[in-house]
Amino acid sequence: MSEILPLETEIRRRIAVAGPMPVAEYMALCLADSEHGYYTTRDPLGARGDFITAPEVSQMFGEMIGLWMAATWKQMGSPENLRIIELGSGRGTMMKDALRAAKVMPDFLKAVVLHLVEISSALEAQQQRTLEPLSMPMFWHPALIDVPPGPAIVLANEFFDALPVHQAVKTEHGWHERQIEIDSTGSLAFTIAPDPIPQFDRLLPPALRNAPDASIFEWRADNVAMELGKRLTRDGGAALVIDYGHAQSAIGDTFQAVGRHAYADPLSAPGSIDLTAHVDFQALAKAVEAMGASVYGPVTQSQLLRRLGIMTRATSLKSKAAAGVAADIDAALKRLISEGAAGMGVLFKAAAFAHHALGVPPGFEG
Ligand SMILES: C[S@@+](CC[C@H](N)C(=O)[O-])C[C@H]1O[C@@H](n2cnc3c(N)ncnc32)[C@H](O)[C@@H]1O
Repeated sequence: MSEILPLETEIRRRIAVAGPMPVAEYMALCLADSEHGYYTTRDPLGARGDFITAPEVSQMFGEMIGLWMAATWKQMGSPENLRIIELGSGRGTMMKDALRAAKVMPDFLKAVVLHLVEISSALEAQQQRTLEPLSMPMFWHPALIDVPPGPAIVLANEFFDALPVHQAVKTEHGWHERQIEIDSTGSLAFTIAPDPIPQFDRLLPPALRNAPDASIFEWRADNVAMELGKRLTRDGGAALVIDYGHAQSAIGDTFQAVGRHAYADPLSAPGSIDLTAHVDFQALAKAVEAMGASVYGPVTQSQLLRRLGIMTRATSLKSKAAAGVAADIDAALKRLISEGAAGMGVLFKAAAFAHHALGVPPGFEG
């Protein structure tokens, strides 16, 4: 029998004391426990880690984001002081590539103070190594609410999918919170709360209220999205959120685990594998909009990157590259914009949120 990890011992202790644990509480502990959480203890990105993100696939991804930021800054009226805030920067790769691409607009770079919101001290250290050569003012914060006020461009790539998700299961009596228990064999297992969640239908979009029994609905706390909307409305600016998920709220179980680039059982090895769930862009937009900000999209990642000029950038990079490297550029481009059913180009979506006076942000026209 494999050794029980320290976090699993803690989860079992909590269930023994307080009863079954909601999926969101389990996910929060697994990812962010201050001692044993997945993000607290490691750098999980890259070919030798557990998963790879778009900025790690190709420099072209960050470069397109850099062009988006520079164009958005112009649209904001080129403020002399701009906060660039990134939520969950991973290794800092996207920001490094974005700011290199934005060198074409030196006045933009002069205006920038960087603010990185990060819970992982391992990744914060990596971000410092990646970004310090840029020699610009930069600060780290544990949460968006800690970033000082001021006009801002906010970026979040694969951030919201890592925030804890709640699940509810429909039965003939209503919607019950999905929980994790210790079953009769002594294993961690899914169960549901005995009582339905009162008035849950009011939370559900009307189209989903007649879902069949056994349907699963997922939702997240709105605090980060509301803070984002409040900030944009109060201080001006725009946000670009890219993540995998669905444009409209939907029924389905998307709670998943990934370790070493393969899917795993989310209840196995707590704290040592990545847990995520798809982002409900409709719910995200609703929370941002409730705080007075305007919402654009979502468009697919493929649409956004093409509109920002990724095809031209790939051609330019290839024209200067050796034959083997040119093939790598083509492969990376294909991966980022692939439109097959499970392709990154369509599974990933981009939404922009902005102060109402900004107008349509770049890449969201039409
Ligand atoms: C999937 S990684 C994406 C990293 C990067 N954006 C990229 O695309 O490569 C998620 C990032 O969000 C951070 N993160 C997760 N939950 C967070 C939270 N609640 N607050 C701040 N950062 C968080 C992780 O440590 C990590 O840097």
